[in-house]
Amino acid sequence: MNITGTTQITGVMGYPVKHSLSPIFQNAGYEKLGLQYVYIPIKVAPENLEAAIKSIRALNFRGVNLTIPHKKQVLQYLDEISEESQILGVANTIINTNGKLKGDITDGSGFINSLKIDGNFNIKNIKVFMLGAGGSAYAIGGALVKNGIGELWVCNRTEEKSILLKKHISEKLGYKNVYIVPFEKINSKEFWHDPQLLVNTTSIGMNQQENLIIKEENFINLKFVYDIVYNRKTELLLMAEKYQIPCLGGLSMLVYQGAASFKLWTGKEAPIEEMKKSLNIPSSKYT
Ligand code: ATR
Repeated sequence: MNITGTTQITGVMGYPVKHSLSPIFQNAGYEKLGLQYVYIPIKVAPENLEAAIKSIRALNFRGVNLTIPHKKQVLQYLDEISEESQILGVANTIINTNGKLKGDITDGSGFINSLKIDGNFNIKNIKVFMLGAGGSAYAIGGALVKNGIGELWVCNRTEEKSILLKKHISEKLGYKNVYIVPFEKINSKEFWHDPQLLVNTTSIGMNQQENLIIKEENFINLKFVYDIVYNRKTELLLMAEKYQIPCLGGLSMLVYQGAASFKLWTGKEAPIEEMKKSLNIPSSKYT
């Protein structure tokens, strides 16, 4: 990498940030296109977030990504917020244009592009069974609804959060086909109306050897399984493979959400294949 006086600075602010894979694939993307950009990890404790965001202007960074735990808190420090970020109440990307900071969120579009391009899966009118009702579920659930699914079945350990998500989607997107599945009835036949897509938006599966919470019999008619966990091949993905159900893990979404941020900063289409290669993932299918 050739850093010069005109190199534009981007990065990711998180706490912790040392496990982030974004510096690897974003820098690979910049290098492939020969752009005068660099992407760095920036450890920012929650109490320093305001100062860190102000420093984007002071240091003339081109932009940053935000990761845990800053996606919600950051909104109060921005000059402008995209419509999608306003709807979801979170931002994962800041673009600095002459000192004006705009927040945006690329998680939803990253998920949809991953499913369409890497998964080659058509989501029009399908039924979706979604695990989780946290931040990722808002982005993914909202993106699925906006892209024309038929029904969204939400199952979360804390049911009040499922109710809030259903209300949110109804009010903000005018979509009524959200159904809540009580967590203790997660495998009950009355809540499995042959969904085509199963999505895990929770952190279940991130640790080794977690028990699969969905019964094997409920996998049989699925057409696609998506797990946003990306640090290992989860039990959910192993079960999908057992039944030869097409599936994707979270690395695919990670690259596509990053590619959308890349475009917001550089104005260029990100070299997706090069980015995947830098993470040692095969270009066609990976879990
Ligand atoms: P993110 O922004 O990554 O979505 P989050 O908002 O903290 O993070 O949401 C985490 C999600 O994972 C939630 O849906 C959470 O369930 P609760 O709302 O009940 O907390 C879910 N989750 C995490 N660990 C879980 C576990 N062991 N079992 C079931 N659900 C879990």
